[in-house]
Amino acid sequence: MKALITGVAGFIGSTLANRLTTDGVTVVGLDSLTDYYELELKQQNLAALTSPLFSFHRGDINAVDLDALLNDVDVIFHLAGQPGVRGSWGDGFDAYVDANINATQRVLEAVRRSAHRPKVVYASSSSIYGEAESYPTGESVTPRPRSPYGVTKLAGEHLCRLYSANDGLRTVSLRFFTVYGPKQRPDMAFTRFLRAAVEGTTIGVYGSGEQVRDFTFVDDIVNALVLAARTDVTPGSVYNVSGGGSHSINEVLEMIAEISPRALKIERSAVAKGDVSRTAADITAITRDLGWAPTVQLRDGLERQLAWVQASAE
Ligand code: NAD
Ligand code: UGA
Repeated sequence: MKALITGVAGFIGSTLANRLTTDGVTVVGLDSLTDYYELELKQQNLAALTSPLFSFHRGDINAVDLDALLNDVDVIFHLAGQPGVRGSWGDGFDAYVDANINATQRVLEAVRRSAHRPKVVYASSSSIYGEAESYPTGESVTPRPRSPYGVTKLAGEHLCRLYSANDGLRTVSLRFFTVYGPKQRPDMAFTRFLRAAVEGTTIGVYGSGEQVRDFTFVDDIVNALVLAARTDVTPGSVYNVSGGGSHSINEVLEMIAEISPRALKIERSAVAKGDVSRTAADITAITRDLGWAPTVQLRDGLERQLAWVQASAE
């Protein structure tokens, strides 16, 4: 199998590239190396991909010659995007539209033009649900994003579905629920909390800390991506991918306090705009169709992320 991973220098993309090359898959990686967070972290992610099966192209999906990159590729893992719920307001929105909507449309158009039409596995998001109608939330619940970010991720998912319906493209969208683990982005809660715990600085909590997330360990996300690529499912399908637990931020902080080398200093501020109070996924569909189930419990995953944060601080 030959795979193209867009967003390969990022948190999930680099973890997936490592797994695929270890499995003997040839991987072409594409990333424009945006400055959303420190470039050095993305360069470190790329530097760790030493397999001869891996090659890297720096480029923006909205500018590169995708037709050439798609040559011989069997599957595209389309993970490139502008992530982050809280930065998607105001002037930040243009970057979300370009990276999450325009880029996805360009990928799908290139696949439609190609002779061999590789499968597309799209990184969607729990943020498309907003404050969901019901919990645990199944894929058939009407999406009502609460943030501009969620709107752009939902638009990308709709594009995948409609290119399947109109042109027969083989697309699968995976709705990831708050992903964590080694290499997690520096704007995300666990990396911020664990760094503060290691360095003895103050942890900033938005709101009461009673907001609940269905956190998912990154290796479980990678397993789902691989299964989605290898399994024949109805084109245009959409699946939730989550850790299967519901934990509040306050519970997470209690767990961090137990494993942390220092006492935690916590400061609370206002609820972040666009933040939902709860996410919790129904994962019946992905278990039934792809045989996928989460394997890493939160406490175990947190310890693994703490070990990574400690090693990076040395
Ligand atoms: P990340 O920012 O670490 O990785 C995304 C990568 O995409 C970055 O390296 C960036 O430089 C690249 N990129 C952005 N725009 C590009 C463009 N136009 N052309 C080429 N490369 C471009 O983010 P991540 O946390 O690894 O997330 C990966 C994907 O998964 C994103 O699409 C995100 O929306 C989605 N997602 C992430 C989570 C999560 O909890 N991390 C949850 C749900 C969905
Ligand atoms: C995460 C990712 O950042 C999004 O890219 C992704 O699409 C989304 O998951 C998803 O599941 O779809 P989020 O749930 O906000 O979004 O993840 P975190 O940044 O880890 O935040 C988790 C919770 O901790 C949020 O309620 C947030 O407000 C809170 N938080 C975050 C803090 O209290 N303090 C911080 O410093 C950071």
